[in-house]
Amino acid sequence: MKITVVGAGNVGATAALRIAEKQLAKEVVLIDIVEGIPQGKALDMYESGAVGLFDTQVSGSNDYKDSADSDIILITAGLARKPGMTREDLLNKNAAIIKDVTTQVMKYSANPIIIMVSNPLDVMTFVAWSASGLPKERVIGMAGVLDTARYKSFIAEALDVSMQDVSALVLGGHGDSMVPIVNYTNVSGIPLTELLPQDKIDALVERTRNGGIEIVNYLKTGSAFYAPAASAVEMIEAIVKDKKRVIPCTTLVEGQYGIESVFCGVPVKLGKNGVEQIFEINLSASELEALQVSAALVDENCKSLTALLAS
Ligand code: NAI
Ligand code: 2OP
Repeated sequence: MKITVVGAGNVGATAALRIAEKQLAKEVVLIDIVEGIPQGKALDMYESGAVGLFDTQVSGSNDYKDSADSDIILITAGLARKPGMTREDLLNKNAAIIKDVTTQVMKYSANPIIIMVSNPLDVMTFVAWSASGLPKERVIGMAGVLDTARYKSFIAEALDVSMQDVSALVLGGHGDSMVPIVNYTNVSGIPLTELLPQDKIDALVERTRNGGIEIVNYLKTGSAFYAPAASAVEMIEAIVKDKKRVIPCTTLVEGQYGIESVFCGVPVKLGKNGVEQIFEINLSASELEALQVSAALVDENCKSLTALLAS
């Protein structure tokens, strides 16, 4: 197993170290446009193996040739949000970067699985799919795992229970229109609606929607990276170990939930072939409408990139 991480910034470097520490690959390659950064960070990580006792080969490069024959490519390259910026502000700049990065990695790996992290997430997953020529199952966006992790952590905190016992689902696009599905949220099978009054649940849902900006406002110079990296690696682990995890990921939705040909967060089965199944669950009328609105916003942004993708 060889995993390439493109973008040696906060999310990429944290994810690469986590992959190495979990020994999910024999080889991890970190690639970035800035000279010296991927090499230096990779060497530092590799040396940490002597303390943490992992044998994963970690290397850094500015040359996509070094990504050759990767099984999985995690793309985290691009710009991150600063205070006052929405994910959509990043749209045009990151679309050009992701198109270029995808074209480069596809020159050297025949049939990788691409996991997208860069924002705006759902649109960038579409850009990578369009530029890669890969089947839809093999280009997957990371957002639902992160948004669900935030939602679960806020619920655990509010109830003073273990996060381990919270089961939840956040669907839709990764943005202000994401849809935490309260009807499918429970604590060891006990519905959340029996544990908290509606106003408290509404506040948790709102905090989840603002989970990214809450951290941007603290950091000021960048956005979250520990939970995002952990979420991306959770997806990588599901693929590497063919775990058939059922988790929300961004994938091409074709007809499910009344959504036609839009990359959007839905519950999927994740295994060695990438997205192996999309689950179409019963949603309330308002949840379904919110999901469709969220997908429509993604679709609008994807369509605005038609000229860039055709060039
Ligand atoms: P960062 O700024 O720390 O790292 C980005 C890296 O990309 C930098 O090292 C930069 O040199 C590199 N880069 C820029 N252009 C490149 C190119 N053309 N080729 C190769 N490398 C290039 O940013 P961070 O915090 O790691 O975030 C990365 C991206 O992930 C951002 O777009 C951010 O918004 C997104 N993100 C998405 C999340 C999600 O839930 N999907 C969660 C957290 C971040
Ligand atoms: C987040 O949700 C910035 O999308 C990123 O933290």
